[in-house]
Amino acid sequence: MFDLEQFITDCRAALAADSSHKLVREVVARAVSDPAAVLKGLGEPKRGGLHKLYQSSELTILNVVWAPMMTIMPHNHEMWAVIGVYTGREDNIFWRRIAGSPGKVEAAGAKALSARDAEPLGRNIIHSVTNPIPRLTAAIHVYGGDFFTMPRSEWDPETLLEEPYNVERAVRRFEEANVPQRA
Ligand SMILES: [Fe+2]
Repeated sequence: MFDLEQFITDCRAALAADSSHKLVREVVARAVSDPAAVLKGLGEPKRGGLHKLYQSSELTILNVVWAPMMTIMPHNHEMWAVIGVYTGREDNIFWRRIAGSPGKVEAAGAKALSARDAEPLGRNIIHSVTNPIPRLTAAIHVYGGDFFTMPRSEWDPETLLEEPYNVERAVRRFEEANVPQRA
């Protein structure tokens, strides 16, 4: 069984014991090892959205629901993260800055995540995410800081040039990605 309050308590205790993502990753891995329990505990996802489950200056927990075939542009977090997928798939593309081209990034690698995967991301990671399947994907995302207030960057999907991350715009993109579903 997945109990959200217990999960938050466990993540906070893990972070208090070790400020890296190590113990939090274990908490997330344990949760998503039973995807059906997480689906029951958080509710079957109905539409794409960035849902806040917990927020403090040291820790943010989100329920991220990706609309079918949705892609979000490259961005960084400036803090570690752990992604635990509990239904569907997340394709992560990793990017790196290009020496001699200020603000520009190039693709550096990729990782396909499926239900039961709990993947840590280091604090300097730049990634973009695609839901490559025609149904909702959902994942618990835990961040080692305040996801909503940390100044950070995103990269224009056409030019791959750096600009300030705008969290309201990111939330709106999740909302807008639902439109084709309703049509
Ligand atoms: Fe991200």
